[in-house]
Amino acid sequence: KNELTIVMAGDGGVGKSCITIRYVKQIFHDHYDPTLEESYRTQVEIDNSVVTLDIIDTAGQEEFKVLRDTHLSQGDGYILVFSIIEKSGLDEIEKLRGQILRFHDIDPTEPNTNPPFPIMIAGNKSDLEEYREVPTETAKQMADQWGLPYIETSAKNGTNISELYAECVRMVRKY
Ligand code: GTP
Ligand code: MG
Repeated sequence: KNELTIVMAGDGGVGKSCITIRYVKQIFHDHYDPTLEESYRTQVEIDNSVVTLDIIDTAGQEEFKVLRDTHLSQGDGYILVFSIIEKSGLDEIEKLRGQILRFHDIDPTEPNTNPPFPIMIAGNKSDLEEYREVPTETAKQMADQWGLPYIETSAKNGTNISELYAECVRMVRKY
């Protein structure tokens, strides 16, 4: 497939939109404008092969979640985002992982739930190290326990943003 759908999900305000916009438009905004639902189409070259990405940027705020849930079965890959400065975001990641697996008829409580699609865990706002609430090790252990890759990103300074999407695309290609 050279057209892939990537779904961004996670709590409100963790940086899903900023990560997406940093990747697609190479810009960053400081103001917070909660998302209802957005999608971005972009063509990129990853490992010498061109791919068109449909990135679906879902809502994190409670009042918009109904819109979001329909997308949790539609991804070729998923990027679950929390912010390293707010540990509450981890609970949302856990819930989302469960929902995504169940939508694909996989029991999330089984020890070896190897879904046939990637779910990446992104700890965003890594530029705010002095406010960190989630140690890298804690997030890594959580992701490891699920067999999922963990990567720390900053939409603000661009750290690991292209790596995040590239890794997701690589994993889709492997399945
Ligand atoms: P919802 O659409 O409501 O679900 O939120 P979201 O996850 O899309 O968050 P959004 O990208 O809108 O970012 C929320 C706030 O965090 C904004 O004020 C951003 O400027 C800020 N922010 C996002 N990413 C980063 C980052 O990597 N570093 C810093 N310092 N701030 C960030
Ligand atoms: Mg948003």
